[in-house]
Amino acid sequence: MSGRIPREFIDELLVRVDIVDLIDSHVPLKKTGNNFVARCPFHTEKTPSFSVNRKKQFFYCFGCGASGNAISFLMDFSHLDFVEAVEDLAGFAGIEVPRESIEHQPAQKKEGLNSLYTLMEQVAAFYADQLRTSTEGKKAVEYLKNRGVSSDCASDFMLGYAPDEWQALATRFDQKLLLEAGLLVSKEGGQFYDRFRGRIMFPIRDKRARIIGFGGRVLDNSLPKYLNSPETPLFHKGKEVYGLYELLKKDTKPKKILIVEGYMDVIALAQFGIHYAVAALGTAASQAHLDLLFRFSSELVFCFDGDKAGREAAWRAMESAFSTLKDGRQIRIMLLPQNHDPDSLMRKEGIDGFTDRIQAAETLSEYFFGHFSNELNLSEMEGRAQLVNKAKPYMEKLPESVFKEMMFTRLKELSGWTGLDVLENKATLASKQSPKQYSRTSGKRPQDNSRLSSARVAIALLVQNPRLAELLEQREIDWCGLEFPGAELFKNILRMIADKNPANTAVLLECYRDTAEEKSIKALALLDSQVSDDKIEAVFCDSLDRLLTQARETALTKLLNKGKTEGLDAQEKELLRKMLTVKILVLNNRNL
Ligand code: UTP
Ligand code: MN
Repeated sequence: MSGRIPREFIDELLVRVDIVDLIDSHVPLKKTGNNFVARCPFHTEKTPSFSVNRKKQFFYCFGCGASGNAISFLMDFSHLDFVEAVEDLAGFAGIEVPRESIEHQPAQKKEGLNSLYTLMEQVAAFYADQLRTSTEGKKAVEYLKNRGVSSDCASDFMLGYAPDEWQALATRFDQKLLLEAGLLVSKEGGQFYDRFRGRIMFPIRDKRARIIGFGGRVLDNSLPKYLNSPETPLFHKGKEVYGLYELLKKDTKPKKILIVEGYMDVIALAQFGIHYAVAALGTAASQAHLDLLFRFSSELVFCFDGDKAGREAAWRAMESAFSTLKDGRQIRIMLLPQNHDPDSLMRKEGIDGFTDRIQAAETLSEYFFGHFSNELNLSEMEGRAQLVNKAKPYMEKLPESVFKEMMFTRLKELSGWTGLDVLENKATLASKQSPKQYSRTSGKRPQDNSRLSSARVAIALLVQNPRLAELLEQREIDWCGLEFPGAELFKNILRMIADKNPANTAVLLECYRDTAEEKSIKALALLDSQVSDDKIEAVFCDSLDRLLTQARETALTKLLNKGKTEGLDAQEKELLRKMLTVKILVLNNRNL
């Protein structure tokens, strides 16, 4: 890997680029009031709910809840990962991305990766050539023909053949590189031999078409049936899927993606015209896999064999799926009949039969509750109680969303347990903080400022205008002993601003990417406090004063009560003395 991108560069980039220009170059924007709007690129809609705010350098969709800064936009819009998005954004600004040097030889390391990619490309070409031209390769062609793989399909997937020799690669390519690429295995005594011998070769490509690994299948019943590349600097099994590059080549925005188990399943489906299947590489689909695939499609369909192992795998997949299920993302589960995999079923039922099955696949909610209904007797109270106990821990992993609320409603219907209301209220309270709630109930209603607590107004204004922190510094507020809703978050934001000195909301948001606070900060960035620019400081100071007064009163009452009942220790007495002094000062000020 090349060196890290310096944090300061990312911050500066977010200040240099105007998000309005950036988004406008992908999705033409129209100015309305303070915002720029368009029809949302992240969901289908007739009237524009997608809005971009120049001051905050932030976008938000009232329809689907997509939101973020310029980097987030590129990640979502162009399906990029974080580093790719930063590179793209720098390209838009016409500046080069600097890299921090790692260890001693950064350039050499990057060079090393490039030569590994080149080697993989050459090896794949060698294997493909062996399949087409060697005498031995004829057996492999025969095998593929028997399994119904056409030569077009074989070349789409760049299939090849590894000759049944110990040193086919070792004598043709650089041994050190081969070893690093996982293509050689070392023997005792310092000798090496080819990892893949006498196998049909399946190159695994990443979405940028680079070959990162291989799978290889024997031509008969010998074991192991499949061999895969080991983890290498290029290949990380838990993060890559087979067939994604080939899928995106046919369709960059597939309506759905089918997740199957095997290499040959992907190929057989493609052969029959289903070009939207990928396979997790001999591992269970991980969260990283799902996050990757959700970048390209909002609907994933898991496809499992109908046997016991398949059913167990389906349940495990569902477990990793729960935490990735934001609103707008959908997962369905398809269990195949016993003794079939997608490859064999496709051949038996043809494309129509198979697509009917995809259409009929269970939604995640059906599958989830169906699983428990099979296992438990819901006509008995005991069974219903178990249902709540078993289902709840999974459901709590769902991100705050309409879907989560509906899942809880369903659990309540099935179990009849009203105690769930308590939970549900909690979920609703939590989501009230997110602006999605407003859009769901009443379209684009501006928020009524008077209903917001002083704490919320103060914190939101701070997030939207990080420079307000200077006012706080001047006042040297002593936060010790003060409690109010959001106090921890407020202090956290103040520390972050002091530490990183973000120039605007977008940069502040960037500091919180992938942290526990990210969601709250986004919600605060969006809160419309309806304060005009010239009044921001005054409103901020006013909310802060009210907030501090309330918090001090609460703390004071608490201390006084404790003093009456249990008595105070030396520290608490000191705190009380300080608080009373502040109170007198404030009262005196007011009376002046
Ligand atoms: P299967 O055994 O279901 O194979 O393994 P398959 O895909 O149906 O293969 P064919 O039809 O016999 O050719 C599913 C997947 O599990 C991994 C491979 O990724 C395979 O595609 N696997 C299986 C291995 O890694 N090693 C093995 O020995 C077997
Ligand atoms: Mn198979």
